[in-house]
Formats: sequence, C-alpha cells, structure tokens
Amino acid sequence: MSESLTMPAHVAVIMDGNGRWAKKHGVPRLSGHKAGMEALKKIVRRSGELGIDYLTVYAFSTENWKRSEEEVGGIFRILVYYMEREIRELHQENVKVNILGDYSIIPEAARKAVADAVEKTKNNTGLQFNIALNYGGRDEILRAVKKIAGEVRDGKRDPEDLKEEDISAALYTGGMPDPDLIIRTSGELRLSNFLIWQCAYSEFYFTDTLWPDFDEKAYEEALQAFTHRKRNFGGR
Ligand code: IPE
Ligand code: IPE
Ligand code: MG
Repeated sequence: MSESLTMPAHVAVIMDGNGRWAKKHGVPRLSGHKAGMEALKKIVRRSGELGIDYLTVYAFSTENWKRSEEEVGGIFRILVYYMEREIRELHQENVKVNILGDYSIIPEAARKAVADAVEKTKNNTGLQFNIALNYGGRDEILRAVKKIAGEVRDGKRDPEDLKEEDISAALYTGGMPDPDLIIRTSGELRLSNFLIWQCAYSEFYFTDTLWPDFDEKAYEEALQAFTHRKRNFGGR
C-alpha cells in the first residue's frame, strides 16, 4: 500500500482483546498486554511510513482502574518498559509523543517515562503519536467545561459567544483534526468512552482480530476499507 490522497489524516485505535488473546494462548493476562505492545510498535512504524499525520491509541481508560491492582500495575510496568526501550527510535523517526488524559495520577515510574518521552520529542514534526492514558471522553469534556466556566467567571468569555470550536480547543486534542477513522479490534462494537466529542463524523472500522494479532496487513485492510467510504458530512 502506498501513500495516497485518500489516506486518513488521523487514525484512532481502540486496542482491545489483549486479555482474550492471553486466554486463547493459555498465558497470563499480562503476557497479552506485552504482546499488545509489540503490535503497537508495528502500527506506529507503519503509520509513519504511510504518512499518516496523527495516530491516537487508547492505552488505558478512566474505567480501567476497576481492574485488579496486579493487572493495572502490570500494564503500567509494560508501558515503562516499552517507552524506555522505544523512545530513542521514535525520536529518530521524528515521532512526536503526546498524552491525552490526566497522567499526573498514574504510577510514578510511568508518569516519568511518559513525561520524558513528551519532552524529548516535543519539537518533532513527523507522526503525532497520541497515547490516551487515564483517558475518558466524558472526563475530557468535563474538564473542558470547567476550564471554560472558569473563564466565564473571570469575565474573559461571554457564554453567548461560545462556539463548538471553543469546546474542541479545550479538549486534550485541542488544535488537532478530529479522527477520520476509528478502529476497534476484538469484535466489540462500542466506543467505551473514547473520543466521544471528536468522533462526530469519524468512520468506524470493527474487526474480530484481537489486538496482539493486529499486524501491518490487518492495519492496511482497515485503511483500505476507509478509502472506499463515502463521507458526506451532512451534505449530499
Ligand atoms: C485492551 O485489552 C487493553 C486494555 C484495556 C488496557 P483488554 O485487557 O481489555 O482485553 P480483553 O477485552 O479482556 O480481551
Ligand atoms: C477500552 O477497552 C479501553 C482500552 C482499550 C484501553 P475495555 O476493554 O476497557 O472496554 P470495555 O470495558 O470492554 O468496554
Ligand atoms: Mg477489553
């Protein structure tokens, strides 16, 4: 597959199915999360090669804290391991890492690893790689509303003048285009609180493939499907 004009500018991925992959292979759930990181590496690299501008991945939701302490701790340990090992290469490839979500409350080692990655790559101009971490769409909108309400209170804004763009700008994705394509793996047909404001006109692609099995070929099939979609944005 080569770069083309119909390629989505912004692809978002709900990386689901690590647990079921582990079960299927008779290994611990954390091995599924590790295998998921290997899949992520491939998709990040391929996104850069294909000239995609933004790749946003759902790594940990505001609801994922409900899981066992062991699993949550393991997910963040795997994230630290991945970040520390991959950041040099990501930087060489001109990838800019952004975090969507409040990562001030994640475990210290992970907080530090992602903060370092953001800082190191902040001036890069290639693929914008957004990692949604402790991310929830409703939480994101609530924060935007609080920020704007504060500005109204301080007399900096008139509620009558508020526009949709003002909400967009106050989200973690402020300044970025909305996702053109949202992919969810593992056969689940829902958003699970992912980019609920930004997805207004996104195209959706669902596949039964479990995230650790989602390779370059599966990714290109999703992108190919996108190129055949006819988008109207309400017009005709
Ligand atoms: C997605 O895989 C990864 C995270 C939510 C962190 P799951 O862990 O949800 O995998 P399943 O849905 O149990 O198979
Ligand atoms: C969504 O997957 C969150 C991530 C992929 C990080 P979940 O597995 O948490 O979603 P639900 O609970 O099945 O809706
Ligand atoms: Mg899941």
